[in-house]
Amino acid sequence: MAETATLIIDGKEIILPVIEGSEGEKAIDIRGLRQNTGCITFDPGYGNTGACRSRITFMNGEQGVLRYRGIPIEQLAEHSTFVETAFLLITGKLPTREELTRTSVYLNDFSPIHENMRLFYRNYPPKAHPMGILSAMVNAMRSFYPELMELDEEMNRTYLQIISKIRTMAAMAYRISTGQRVVYPRPDLCYCANFLNMMFDSEVVPYRVDDDLVRALNVFWILHADHEQNCSTTAVRVVGSSKVNIYAAISTGISALWGPLHGGANQAVIQMLEQIQRDGMTIEQCVARAKDKADDFRLMGFGHRVYKTYDPRAKIMKKMCDIVLSKVKREDPLLDIARKLEEVALEDTYFKEKNLYPNVDFYSGIVLRALGIPTDMFTVMFAIGRLPGWIAQWKEDTSDPEMKISRPRQIYTGETLSDYIPIDQRSGETIC
Ligand code: ACO
Repeated sequence: MAETATLIIDGKEIILPVIEGSEGEKAIDIRGLRQNTGCITFDPGYGNTGACRSRITFMNGEQGVLRYRGIPIEQLAEHSTFVETAFLLITGKLPTREELTRTSVYLNDFSPIHENMRLFYRNYPPKAHPMGILSAMVNAMRSFYPELMELDEEMNRTYLQIISKIRTMAAMAYRISTGQRVVYPRPDLCYCANFLNMMFDSEVVPYRVDDDLVRALNVFWILHADHEQNCSTTAVRVVGSSKVNIYAAISTGISALWGPLHGGANQAVIQMLEQIQRDGMTIEQCVARAKDKADDFRLMGFGHRVYKTYDPRAKIMKKMCDIVLSKVKREDPLLDIARKLEEVALEDTYFKEKNLYPNVDFYSGIVLRALGIPTDMFTVMFAIGRLPGWIAQWKEDTSDPEMKISRPRQIYTGETLSDYIPIDQRSGETIC
């Protein structure tokens, strides 16, 4: 017999169905609750709320497990490429050699962007944050490529257009904001190598593609490619549930990712490490400040809503730091500070009791710095990586007959019924 949960409200017994996922995760199905009892559930931040059934990503926060379509993140980071992982997430299966080649060819073919879109860039103020530009540009794609919405193939042209063009748009935003000439994509280079070339090629010193750095970028993007129902993915699903076009939904995801508690954390980690270095703070002072509730300083790159142990992506990223730094023959003093900070925090009772461990962002900024990526492009790098996940989740959500427009309820705590008071009868100063 199917499992159920019994809830007693006002002496009345309500039987609720229990749903079980393929990894044994359980959820109490409360869809009939309001209708049968007049009550809703209260869960700010949705920490206990399952908003959908999903076949894309599995994570277990207690055990530090992350799998895309069943495949452990460690295996993908070791053997796969970003493009192959994107294919896996979006279509649900690993590509054949022929499918992968065709995908790569499309990604190359689609990489130039509409010349008129370039005019947007010119009118942005020089210090405009690239995440704001990227979000606006992705939204604008709907107007420039209206013909691309036919969703007839699994890995269709719309998805590939966005994945390909976001890379060009990101590199272009960087080049224009730094007053450099735009470098166009090269058809002979793979996705990651092409991005690095578009970022760093110059007439004076042509960019030399390095296989190890290309590999590091592949790993960085694989690790960020999906993370089930996080803030930006939820934004994509919620906005997509109104049946708006995919560009608008993805643009919302980019905006959500921008925040320092989410994708902006990789930039915030570097700023924090620089602050520690600049102000000569000891690690102990820094940890003490992070624990002090009167101080708004937090250890950026520590803690996670789901992981209550070491983030499996952070382990891989930590190893990547050493590989990339030795490749570029550079020492980064911020890496030493990060290592010491991790060591002290992991031994500290406050962090232990609250299960606060390094998350993926703690070391990813150091890898990006070593690749030559400027700090205000870090979150853009995250956005490029997360794109296949957003697309996969949008596709799943919009094709799921069970899904409805997202519309949570609330507990109202404002004024009860009050009368309107004409302005000349109100007390206080009149401001014209
Ligand atoms: N430094 C110090 N204290 C922390 C930290 C931190 N980084 N993170 C959580 N805490 C404390 C909180 O103050 C809170 O303490 P309390 O119970 O005494 O009030 C407790 O730990 C629980 O923290 P919440 O903020 O309630 O946990 P939540 O799940 O809402 O937040 C979050 C998770 C946003 C990631 C949080 O840990 C944080 O702000 N971390 C720093 C920012 C960061 O690294 N973000 C990246 C997340 S990963 C990603 O998006 C790729």
